[in-house]
This record gives sequence, structure tokens and C-alpha cells, in this order.
Amino acid sequence: MRLKILSDKAKAAIEAEFPKYPDKRSVLLAALRTAQDEVGYLSEAAMVDVAEILDLTPVQVYDVASFYTLFNLKPVGKHVIQVCKTLSCALVGAGGIIEHLQGRLGIRVGETTPDGLFSLKLVECLASCGTGPMVQINNRYYEQLTPEKIDRILDDLKREGKSSLASGPFQLPVLGGRS
Ligand code: FES
Repeated sequence: MRLKILSDKAKAAIEAEFPKYPDKRSVLLAALRTAQDEVGYLSEAAMVDVAEILDLTPVQVYDVASFYTLFNLKPVGKHVIQVCKTLSCALVGAGGIIEHLQGRLGIRVGETTPDGLFSLKLVECLASCGTGPMVQINNRYYEQLTPEKIDRILDDLKREGKSSLASGPFQLPVLGGRS
């Protein structure tokens, strides 16, 4: 028998969403978030568990998981830095922020630092276009960034696991404690 990776708590959290939707398959995005919060990324086993809970095929789950940049299909660092690269942010310096992050972290986009603390990704608009350049780190926004502000944020995250420079509005509740 296949070993399940999602806990009973995660399964219950997914099933608690059922009454909110017309059918089980509509819970897929919420279920993937729950699975990712618990496992840290969407492993093959986690996606198979989600498929079983929602009566979907693993391929149907993978198709959705691989479409959205908020889902990680391979292990990531403790802090996942998603840099908005869309036009409004690009016009006010997203490119410089990306260069600075790569230099400071010693990794390229798509990579994770050897200590497992930071992963760096590029994403499309995060709906904070008036306050660019901006990034989302786990579930929090950091806006109107400068290289100096980035340095302070990274130092805070390394030292304390959080930074007072975080701003709203994106703060979803998390199951597994990533904040
Ligand atoms: S263009 Fe960056 S948040 Fe919209």
C-alpha cells in the first residue's frame, strides 16, 4: 500500500473546504496550498494524496499545480522570495532588485542558497503595482524596495525569521507555520 504523506490534520483541513464549493474538484487550489504549507513543496506523493482526496487523477492535479507560480514542485528554502517582474515594477527598478538579490544571495533565479534559507523566483504581477518594486516572501509583501531595504530584510529574516519591513495586504492564514 502507498505511504501517504499528508497528515490527518491536512486531510481534515482540505475536507473542511468541501461545503464551500459545488463539488470536490473545486477545492483543488485550497488543497494544494494546504499540502504545500504542510510539506514545504508539492512533492509527487503530496499531489497523489490531494488527487485521492478530491477524486481527481494525479495528472489533473499536476496540471494545475504546475500552472501557478505560487506552487513549488521541488524543495525550496525557508524563505521563498518571489520578485514581481511585470511592467509597473520593471519600470521602477525590479531589474536592479533582481540583480541585487542574486549578488547578495550568491544564487541565480530558480535556485536555493546552500544553507536552505532562501529561494529566488520571478513572478508576474502581484497586484501591488503602485508600490513597486516589490517582492512577496512566503506570505508577506515587501514594497517600494531599494537595495538597502533588501539588505535589511534579508538580515532580519536570517537573524529573526521575520522582518518588520513586511507590509500588507497579502497575508493568508497558514497551516504549517510559514509566515
Ligand atoms: S507590476 Fe509588480 S505588482 Fe503589479
